[in-house]
Amino acid sequence: MPLLSVKNLSLWYGAEKTLHNITFDIEEGEILCIVGESGSGKSSILYAVMGLLPPYTKVEGNIFFKGIDLLSIGESKRREIRGKEIGMIFQEPSSYLDPLFTVGSQIEETYTSHFSDQRSAKEKAIEAMRKAGIPRAEEKFAMYPHQLSGGLKQRVCIAVSVVCEPSLLLADEPTTALDVSVQKRILGLFRRLKEEGKSIILVTHDFGVVAEVGDKVIVLKEGRIVEKGDIFKIFDNPVHPYTKLLLESI
Ligand SMILES: Nc1ncnc2c1ncn2[C@@H]1O[C@H](COP(=O)(O)OP(=O)(O)OP(=O)(O)O)[C@@H](O)[C@H]1O
Ligand SMILES: [Mg+2]
Repeated sequence: MPLLSVKNLSLWYGAEKTLHNITFDIEEGEILCIVGESGSGKSSILYAVMGLLPPYTKVEGNIFFKGIDLLSIGESKRREIRGKEIGMIFQEPSSYLDPLFTVGSQIEETYTSHFSDQRSAKEKAIEAMRKAGIPRAEEKFAMYPHQLSGGLKQRVCIAVSVVCEPSLLLADEPTTALDVSVQKRILGLFRRLKEEGKSIILVTHDFGVVAEVGDKVIVLKEGRIVEKGDIFKIFDNPVHPYTKLLLESI
């Protein structure tokens, strides 16, 4: 059984149909990349999986996670899964940090909202900060978001997303604002998570990133999957003209 199985997912924002029959699977220990132009619906897929769509949306299809259809369970069950079993790095992560709390307490909070051992929360938070490539994590733990650079705030959000060690990580352009050396570290983190058997859906416009860590790729255009398959196949023999265009652009 795949870890996540999305079947015929369609999504409307009001009257606007944004996703059309999206179908894909992701196995344990696999990294699936989603590429496609701006507005093609990449983030919308992640929000649907995370259960964070606004109330005026309509969704059809199934999203099976460990065999359970996430679209058929209630909000309280979803909340148990969200953050704990499925983590997410948001596209503009810094806006998800609360300016009034230290970054350390926000990472701890994600942990303690799902696990009862309060005493190990700080340890877990600092470990997650290290994994996310934050130097001198203990020092940064006590800082407020405004005291950190944009790149550090992004890494704090990555720490939030991995502190509960979720089996599925949704990463929406996670390395875009980071310089190359930090980007490498984050890709290293993704590879380690994969070795531990974790799965990742990685939204990126960077085919270099796809080549470096991806197992499978979905190419999205105007809310439809126009090509999908394993990365070697797609790099060696892109079928859809849009995929060829994307590959030529690198
Ligand atoms: N909350 C929302 N309400 C209404 N329309 C939305 C909402 N979120 C996204 N859309 C629309 O849905 C379409 C897909 O948006 P989405 O953010 O999923 O694209 P994307 O591929 O992630 O784009 P980008 O690369 O710019 O992040 C766009 O036309 C967008 O305007
Ligand atoms: Mg997006």
